[in-house]
Amino acid sequence: MEYEDESPESQVTASYLRSDGEIEASLRPKSLDDFIGQPRVREQLALVLRGAKQRGSTPDHVLLSGPPGLGKTSMAMIIAGELGTALRLTSGPALERAGDLAAMLSNLVEGDVLFIDEIHRIARPAEEMLYLAMEDFRVDVVVGKGPGATSIPLDIAPFTLVGATTRSGALTGPLRDRFGFTGHMDFYEPPELLLILQRSAHILGVEIDVEAAAEIAGRSRGTPRIANRLLRRVRDYAEVRADGRVNRAIARAALEVYDVDTLGLDRLDRAVLGALVRSFGGGPVGVSTLAVAVGEESATVEEVCEPFLVRAGMIARTPRGRVATAAAWEHLGLVPPPDLVFGAIEVRGRESHPTLDLFD
Ligand SMILES: Nc1ncnc2c1ncn2[C@@H]1O[C@H](COP(=O)(O)OP(=O)(O)OP(=O)(O)O)[C@@H](O)[C@H]1O
Ligand SMILES: [Mg+2]
Repeated sequence: MEYEDESPESQVTASYLRSDGEIEASLRPKSLDDFIGQPRVREQLALVLRGAKQRGSTPDHVLLSGPPGLGKTSMAMIIAGELGTALRLTSGPALERAGDLAAMLSNLVEGDVLFIDEIHRIARPAEEMLYLAMEDFRVDVVVGKGPGATSIPLDIAPFTLVGATTRSGALTGPLRDRFGFTGHMDFYEPPELLLILQRSAHILGVEIDVEAAAEIAGRSRGTPRIANRLLRRVRDYAEVRADGRVNRAIARAALEVYDVDTLGLDRLDRAVLGALVRSFGGGPVGVSTLAVAVGEESATVEEVCEPFLVRAGMIARTPRGRVATAAAWEHLGLVPPPDLVFGAIEVRGRESHPTLDLFD
């Protein structure tokens, strides 16, 4: 699957931006009201922010968790926007040395929002520094090495930490406990994606009818980033092969060209399902074995493909490994084995679809 560079740095370093990335930034919702979907997270967050505003204090630290492309970074930007304060961006992997984090923390101005993307990948020393910073707005800077080392306490301005993670389970207990609020982002429903697509089409100046938007929404894996990406690809197709206007036929033809099937499964999703069913007889098989079979990193299979395949009722997680459901066999145009126990799993929003050729 194409993995667009979403690192915070890429948002601010103009020379680094690809045009699609620039477009994506322009499509970000700018306020809580502008943000479509995630009604619970939005309501909860609005209360957190308003409560703090009324008390004249900085809001509690916020953790945003959920699969890629659901709007965590957008939400962090919105939090700073709603508070009227500056957003400082960094990421877990960028904070390899505690000194990097200390420098960042000591430069904060009161009320700033510090956004740490991929916070589950933060190195241990930086994480420990963060505990004190989050709790007491203080850092201990260690000067020197060995027995002569001394630690100098340093006050930092009260700030709000917003952490984003695709794997909240990978966070240590002490770190998770220091967040006052955790917002779980879930996959979007097609009607929400439809609204997002209409909004994006409006911003991009693309003429699209509601049937076409619904077609794209249904194939977006519940993910706004994918919806917007498919919209841009459909727009290319409409401009090159037709008059630029997007109707359902154009949308369908374009999505076929880009290998997006009726459930929105892309090549990697289908490869994972195909390996699970064809090479491992439907499982159970470990996710790392599955990743090797499709030539991808475990983390990509686990964080990008699997959540959606589970949600779509194609894969079940069992203590012994991943198992293909009856729906998966059928989606691949195969007959599930008669003794398959996972055939009874409820499948949400599944429709019938043509047989697919997996390895074309
Ligand atoms: N609720 C929404 N309404 C409209 N557009 C949205 C919404 N959520 C996300 N988007 C679009 O999807 C894109 C991806 O969102 P964002 O970068 O915030 O996701 P993310 O959760 O941070 O992903 P990652 O985990 O990969 O960092 C944004 O550029 C924006 O255009
Ligand atoms: Mg992000």
